[in-house]
Amino acid sequence: MIEADLVVAGIGELATPEGRTPRLGKDLDRLRVVQDAAVACRQGRIVFAGPRAECAARVRSLPGACLVDAEGGTVLPGFVDAHTHLPFAGWREREFDQRLRGDSYQAIAARGGGILSTVAATRSVDEGVLADLVRARLDAMLARGTTTVEAKSGYGLTVEAELRQLRALRRGGAGHPVEVVPTFLGAHTVPAEHRQDRAAWVRLLVEQALPAVTAEHLAEYADAFVDAQAFTPQEARTVLEAARRAGLGVRVHADQLADDGGAALAASLRAASADHLEHVSEAGVEALARAGTTAVLLPAAGFFLRSAQKPPARRLIDAGVPVALATDFNPGTCPTESMPLVLVFGCLWAGLTLDEAIAAATLNGAHALGRAHETGSLEEGKRADLVVHGVPGRHHLVYRFGDSRVRTVIACGKVVYEAPRTGVPAC
Ligand code: NIG
Ligand code: FE
Repeated sequence: MIEADLVVAGIGELATPEGRTPRLGKDLDRLRVVQDAAVACRQGRIVFAGPRAECAARVRSLPGACLVDAEGGTVLPGFVDAHTHLPFAGWREREFDQRLRGDSYQAIAARGGGILSTVAATRSVDEGVLADLVRARLDAMLARGTTTVEAKSGYGLTVEAELRQLRALRRGGAGHPVEVVPTFLGAHTVPAEHRQDRAAWVRLLVEQALPAVTAEHLAEYADAFVDAQAFTPQEARTVLEAARRAGLGVRVHADQLADDGGAALAASLRAASADHLEHVSEAGVEALARAGTTAVLLPAAGFFLRSAQKPPARRLIDAGVPVALATDFNPGTCPTESMPLVLVFGCLWAGLTLDEAIAAATLNGAHALGRAHETGSLEEGKRADLVVHGVPGRHHLVYRFGDSRVRTVIACGKVVYEAPRTGVPAC
């Protein structure tokens, strides 16, 4: 008999990608789907996931075990949000209104707004305030089914303010059920005080910021924004190669607003991911496929920016590039913490099927963060990160779009969130 200290029964539908490597090509669309299912966990790990009848025959609940009734709901792996800009202060709703009136994201940035306005707001608060913001946002993510999140600095843009953002991330995330994977994004844009001497900022990143980040173990990855208003591929390469030498993994904000050669740079660095990719060229797609770099698509951000250009999701999938979906949560281009909403835009805006979107938002996101062996699917041996959605089958998540359906979240084998009961049967 398999012994369990937590059992989720009454599952109408269990749907999960399988494996410890990313789902590629046609396999992205192949989930394991079990009707009338159960999941059993022991000491934070999944020990059984499959048909309820088989669970009843093979699994024994230990005395005092936690029993969760999914009430006919749908169980998916916890979402892995592989791209966010979590530790910032201030919102940019005025700029949003300006854009609704015809202004462009680039024009606002060129006037000193955009990223730089969030830099000013973020510099003005102390580490404790930022840590509280981080914690509140992690709560919001958890309530929407996210159990692992990547989070970038990049709104400090002095050595000290970047370190403060990363320390706030650590402090705000300490003991929180959502696992936080920190990324140093000092190369987000060139701060105003260095615009006359860009090379000096790049030098500061390499010679002072990176050594301080690694000395305090504040980041697992480094990222750079390759863009006309941020960094050239060569500047980004200088920073990311130094990050690699310092022991960090690397990621690239690539080809978001134009084809700037970001994907080619990411591929040549064998980066963990190239993110955005609305404007990636065919050569860029092929380079990513050869390098095995994950394309992290951010369809909620593309939609929010009203980008006329969509990332070539189908082409990326067909070329064998691992494709993941994430929010890009930030105050400028995607002020939502919601991965369920990302499924909606992944399907209806970027053109994925629902099953592809689920795999991209779970296992492939975990792969993008080097955690596909640990989370992202519901299989024996993986960390017990799973979510009960109050719908009878997975298609309802996008089909009945517009509302969060998350009912219960389990992270590391513990119930860490339960939605308030409304009295209305959710399914
Ligand atoms: O991923 N592209 C660059 N960085 C963010 C936007 C940052 C901002 O506008 O504050 C992004 O979309
Ligand atoms: Fe981003």
